[in-house]
Amino acid sequence: MKVLIVGSGGREHAIAASVKKSPKVEKLYCAPGNGGIGELAECVPIGAMEFEKLAAFAVEKAVDLTIVGMDDPLVGGIVDVFEEKGLRVFGPRKNAAILEGSKAFSKDLMKKYNIPTAAYENFTDADKALAYLETAKFPIVLKADGLALGKGVLICNTMEEAKAGVREIMLDKKFGAAGNAMVIEEFMTGREVSVLSFVDGKTIQTMTSAQDHKRAGDGDTGLNTGGMGTFSPSPFYTKEVDDFCQKHIYQPTVDAMAAEGRPFTGIIFFGLMLTKDGPKVLEYNARFGDPEAQVVLPRMKNDLIEVIEACVDGRLDTVQLQFEDNAAVCVVLASDGYPVAYEKGIPITGFENFAGKEGYYCFHAGTKLENGQYLTNGGRVLGITAKGKNLQEARANAYAATEWISFANKYMRHDIGKAIDEA
Ligand code: AMP
Ligand code: GLY
Repeated sequence: MKVLIVGSGGREHAIAASVKKSPKVEKLYCAPGNGGIGELAECVPIGAMEFEKLAAFAVEKAVDLTIVGMDDPLVGGIVDVFEEKGLRVFGPRKNAAILEGSKAFSKDLMKKYNIPTAAYENFTDADKALAYLETAKFPIVLKADGLALGKGVLICNTMEEAKAGVREIMLDKKFGAAGNAMVIEEFMTGREVSVLSFVDGKTIQTMTSAQDHKRAGDGDTGLNTGGMGTFSPSPFYTKEVDDFCQKHIYQPTVDAMAAEGRPFTGIIFFGLMLTKDGPKVLEYNARFGDPEAQVVLPRMKNDLIEVIEACVDGRLDTVQLQFEDNAAVCVVLASDGYPVAYEKGIPITGFENFAGKEGYYCFHAGTKLENGQYLTNGGRVLGITAKGKNLQEARANAYAATEWISFANKYMRHDIGKAIDEA
């Protein structure tokens, strides 16, 4: 079959690598793709938000299945556009992608269906939000309602910071229209875990757990980023935690969406906080995590296409997900200065070191190929993933592999997966 992937990051490279392994796939396209994805797929220069052009391309090439990797097109309704044209597509429709697209919606859903999450209030009026702060306990968490590249969350320790934050989000529109509404919520403490799942509208099957490192600097300092590295599985995600989440969070979320007339088909990513009062939902995403996909997918034994087709056809209950009994660690190589300002267009060398190395992956996030030379083309440049028999071994392997790649402004965290030593 012919498959089209929509997106251009490390996540889409990891999806492409898994799709490519399926014996069912004879031709793979990616729009717009990136330098590394181009080694696996034919990259098509159509932007992820150009729904009509993408659908016309899928019709023209007789694409059998489109997989949407990114949040923006899903929230914008790409699946509806494809479905109207009779095209097979994997991802939630617009009315279900709102689970990620509006934090106010997701908080209200959790409240209505008793799904554990932080206490909160929603606001569409800056003055009311500022007045509410007078009664708040600190630290407090401010969230822009809409998509903000993972950067629309502010944790404020003082009243001054919080007031400035409300003004930035709602009045200065630092995150654009994402700040037309906002959520103010209780600050929670605990271990964070990411659990990705396949959903077919009614059935949910969770994948192996992972943990992301969102802050730019070692020791979880600095600004929030899209994610600086991941490991899988999380040793803190025990059988007991899983049992609780299966019962109180995962299926209830899928049932709630169906009950609201918004059946969800696609990937639900549960961002969880393991608090002393039990697991609670930090956020939902309507897609694979990035870089979570870069550690979870390489460990999946199933044919990804078979699982995705089962979701699209509403028969996920017939699938048994299987993951390797090992571990994986991904260290992101970024451009120094990310997530604020950084140079692009710098030559990258060393890719040949990955050739023929089983269990090592060099996923491209922000690269481009120019005259046969790979150049940096974004904040997050590469995701270096390695497997190992356990997390310690996977971490040592991943950090060894980070040395195989060179570029002038290469930056990475040195403590990805360090938390596992405390498990
Ligand atoms: P989100 O995009 O909602 O996952 O938030 C980004 C990051 O902010 C999370 O991964 C957490 O580290 C942190 N965060 C979000 N909400 C809370 C909360 N209620 N309490 C503590 N930390 C939070
Ligand atoms: N790594 C977090 C995310 O994909 O949102």
